[in-house]
Amino acid sequence: MRVLVVGGGGREHALAWKLSQEAEVFSAPGNPGIAQIAETFPVRADNEEGMVALCEQIAPEVVLVGPENPLLAGLGDRLRARGVSVFGPSAAAAALEGSKAWAKEQMLVAGVPTAHHQSFRDFDAAVAYAASRFDGGRQVAVKASGAALGKGVVVAQTHEEARDALEAMLVDREHGEAGATVVVEDALVGREFSLLALVSETEVRCLPVAQDYKRALDGDHGPNTGGMGSVSPVSWLTEDLVARAEREVIVPIVRHLAAQGLDYRGCLFAGLLVEDGTPYCLEYNVRFGDPETQSIVRRLGPGFAQAILDVAEGRPIGAIEVTRDAAVSVVVASGGYPGTIETGFPIDIGPMPEGVEIFHAGTASLDGCLVTAGGRVFAVSAVGSTVADARERAYAGGAQVGFAGAWCRRDIGACTKGQSASRQTD
Ligand code: GLY
Repeated sequence: MRVLVVGGGGREHALAWKLSQEAEVFSAPGNPGIAQIAETFPVRADNEEGMVALCEQIAPEVVLVGPENPLLAGLGDRLRARGVSVFGPSAAAAALEGSKAWAKEQMLVAGVPTAHHQSFRDFDAAVAYAASRFDGGRQVAVKASGAALGKGVVVAQTHEEARDALEAMLVDREHGEAGATVVVEDALVGREFSLLALVSETEVRCLPVAQDYKRALDGDHGPNTGGMGSVSPVSWLTEDLVARAEREVIVPIVRHLAAQGLDYRGCLFAGLLVEDGTPYCLEYNVRFGDPETQSIVRRLGPGFAQAILDVAEGRPIGAIEVTRDAAVSVVVASGGYPGTIETGFPIDIGPMPEGVEIFHAGTASLDGCLVTAGGRVFAVSAVGSTVADARERAYAGGAQVGFAGAWCRRDIGACTKGQSASRQTD
């Protein structure tokens, strides 16, 4: 099977790594890590014309689109219209991630448990609504409806903080059009986890659950990041809670989209928070999670490549084996991340312990040398018979990675305390 993986981050490296065990993998643009296991092409993920031409050149049986932006822009529709099998939803269905306001409407109609909320374009109305929630004893999260580069969510502890956030989004247009509509929702309190499902039109196959670590510092402190690590399975979750999340959060929205005639073939990611024993949907994403995927794929046995093709072709999804291993992935980041960083530092990678894979995210090749090229540079991903075992191996692997300013959180896989309020991603 010939698979084209679109994208070039740690998630795409993890997917390409797994697929390469069962398929011939190509990637565009890829990254230096992906280039070790696949043929890469210098076509950016947002270059639709380039992707169409590349598909004509290499004739993949399936194209897996990693990041959300090409899906939101309609790459899936464009390629499907040319007869290419694509793993990734249509632009219309991808609005589940591209518009938080629309996603919330769909959750309500589909009966998915989610935080009490309203959407606004008018500043005064939004401020008045936020005040009414504070008066009722709740705190609120203010969310730019559109994609705001991960910076579009403010969890406000006071009415003044909510007002400032609303002013920044609705009046000052800090996030441009992405903030022209805002969602004001009650901030939930509890533990978070991520449930990813393969969706082949109406068939759903959930993958092993995972938890990511959004904050920069140990103990879930510090600023939000793109994710500092992940663990799978999640020790505090019961099978019953996961089954409820599938039944109440994944299945109803898939059926609801299908009933509206919206084509969904791809990965559906639900960000969930458990409050008082109920899994609430914080958000949907229309792609694999990053860095959850770096841990999830480590737990999968044979069948993944065929399942990706099955989904893309809208037919029943073949079996995928799931091992009993645990996986922990630790992100090694550049100094200063998630603030200002410098790039271009040479990287040394020593021998990895058994069970450890290193997934590239922010690296580049410069004159034959591997150098840093982003905030999150690698995910060092380990499997073991227990989370503790995987964790020990992941940190031992992380110690083999060296570049100026390298750092990581020290509690990935150890700290199961969930972030306390609504997710900070968009
Ligand atoms: N880890 C959260 C996300 O991929 O959006």
